[in-house]
Amino acid sequence: MSDSPAWAGSPLTEPEDFDIEVNGEHHVVTCRRDTPVLYALRGDLGLKGTRFGCGLGQCGACFVLFDGHPTPSCDLPVWAAAGHSIVTVEGLATDGRPSRLQRAFTEEQAAQCGYCMSGILISATALLQQEPDPDEARVREALDRNLCRCGSHGRVVRAVLKAAKMETP
Ligand code: FES
Ligand code: FES
Repeated sequence: MSDSPAWAGSPLTEPEDFDIEVNGEHHVVTCRRDTPVLYALRGDLGLKGTRFGCGLGQCGACFVLFDGHPTPSCDLPVWAAAGHSIVTVEGLATDGRPSRLQRAFTEEQAAQCGYCMSGILISATALLQQEPDPDEARVREALDRNLCRCGSHGRVVRAVLKAAKMETP
């Protein structure tokens, strides 16, 4: 019987060092090459804002910006992340000041339990970077991969539309 936890990747590979860029800073993590980036973020770097949901790339709870694209970090092996840029929800603030999306989500009280919100903020951030003034249909489309079991979608969409109208980033 293997002494490796299932999430640690293939028992046939030994731990290696991987240099990953997270929120603009380089970090060296030591793990098996198939370890999901989600575990490196939460376990090695202490960035707990990125959540584990399905573990299958299907719920959006673990989304990070991967070279600017919303990407499930549960489905992204560490070896594939080396040399690329990762931004987590912790990286959305600037000098401790919440982003306009974070402010709008707070003002609209978009979250219920909040579990899905970091992934939703990541998807919404990518949307506003690409389309500064989306309509409601585009917002709904952009958030289609982010599940929310609390049914907060209406408030979330309102918050994203509100953020798009804010002048400060
Ligand atoms: S936990 Fe990664 S998409 Fe669900
Ligand atoms: S606010 Fe609870 S899952 Fe979305």
